[in-house]
Amino acid sequence: MPASGSSAPSRPLLLVVACALVDADRRVLIAQRPEGKALAGLWEFPGGKVEPGETPEAALIRELGEELAVETKQACLAPLSFASHSYENLHLLMPLYVCRKWQGTPQAREHAALKWVRPQKLRDYPMPPADEPLIAALCDL
Ligand code: C5P
Repeated sequence: MPASGSSAPSRPLLLVVACALVDADRRVLIAQRPEGKALAGLWEFPGGKVEPGETPEAALIRELGEELAVETKQACLAPLSFASHSYENLHLLMPLYVCRKWQGTPQAREHAALKWVRPQKLRDYPMPPADEPLIAALCDL
């Protein structure tokens, strides 16, 4: 039975962690979701699901290695903002970190494409609804 006073349908919670890599020109890296995945074609901040037992920072370091072939460390990750969005089938919680120091050149290992974009231009790239509210925090950097 739903909690008294609550009318929201219950959905599974999904914890995803995302990262804005910011380069020396203050551009942000975005990645295009590939064909065959939900929300294909939309641009997102790289990252992924936090696995059981992982900290968000450890998950992000792992995902950046898997998705982009870049290496970074916890001291280089600064929390910036937080998304909380209800999709039809799940409720997504997604902290966004900023990273300005990493090793390696980002490669699209799991995405269709990568792009370096000035924060003020991010709205030109269609994003999942959970990601869009995070743009404002990047514009304020
Ligand atoms: O990337 P993945 O498909 O594992 O993400 C699971 C779900 O999380 C997506 O289907 C989407 O609903 C949501 N998501 C999102 N924005 C992201 C990453 C994931 O809304 N940047």
